[in-house]
Amino acid sequence: MKLFIDDANTSEIRRLCDLYPVDGVTTNPTILARTGKDPVSVLREIRALIGDNGIIFAQAVPLDAEGMVRDARAIVRLLGQNTIVKIPSVPEGFKAIRLLQEEGIRTCGTVVYTPLQAYLAAKSGASYVAPYVNRIDNMGYDGVGIVKQIQDILVRHHMDTEVLAASFKNSQQVLELCTYGIGSVTCAPAVIDAFVNNLAIDGAVMGFVHDFAGAVGENKSMADLIG
Ligand code: E4P
Repeated sequence: MKLFIDDANTSEIRRLCDLYPVDGVTTNPTILARTGKDPVSVLREIRALIGDNGIIFAQAVPLDAEGMVRDARAIVRLLGQNTIVKIPSVPEGFKAIRLLQEEGIRTCGTVVYTPLQAYLAAKSGASYVAPYVNRIDNMGYDGVGIVKQIQDILVRHHMDTEVLAASFKNSQQVLELCTYGIGSVTCAPAVIDAFVNNLAIDGAVMGFVHDFAGAVGENKSMADLIG
């Protein structure tokens, strides 16, 4: 399963890329606006941080297909290869996804709340579809269940589209989808940290440090002892 950072805060991206095996960064217009900086410079900075091999997602803003296609071309010009353009999964978006596929620009059908929306984005030629787990939960439906249904549709119809599950608020939602075999998830930094945020884990690690220090003295590593 690919793991993406759903944020545009560059110091957080730097920290997470340093620690965790992340595949790239996803953004949307709200996430970019939250930085309070010029969106183009932020996207450039993210590309520099994750390198040419990292995958970056940036969203087209217009509501009409022609405008979406124009944004998509500009985004790819700015960020180069390994860029996926997020296109809202609405009728004009399906048209844009189709036109962009003909140009060889890869897209992610985003703002997915229903399985048939994902089906239409996938059939239009999207490389990814992004269902919003937590937002669906907050509407009183089963976000994880809907993502599983989307995955089943894509697999059963042999569609060449990957699920990028998004909008997580806790690691349990991620765990269920990871177990189910979802292709990609994107999570805010706090949710990624929560994968290993557990006092039992910290206690076990500190127990090893304490026991070793008791035997050989404080702050001695294996390298210190071996020389
Ligand atoms: C990703 O594609 C979405 O834009 C993002 O995960 C939405 O997250 P939110 O529901 O926390 O705004």
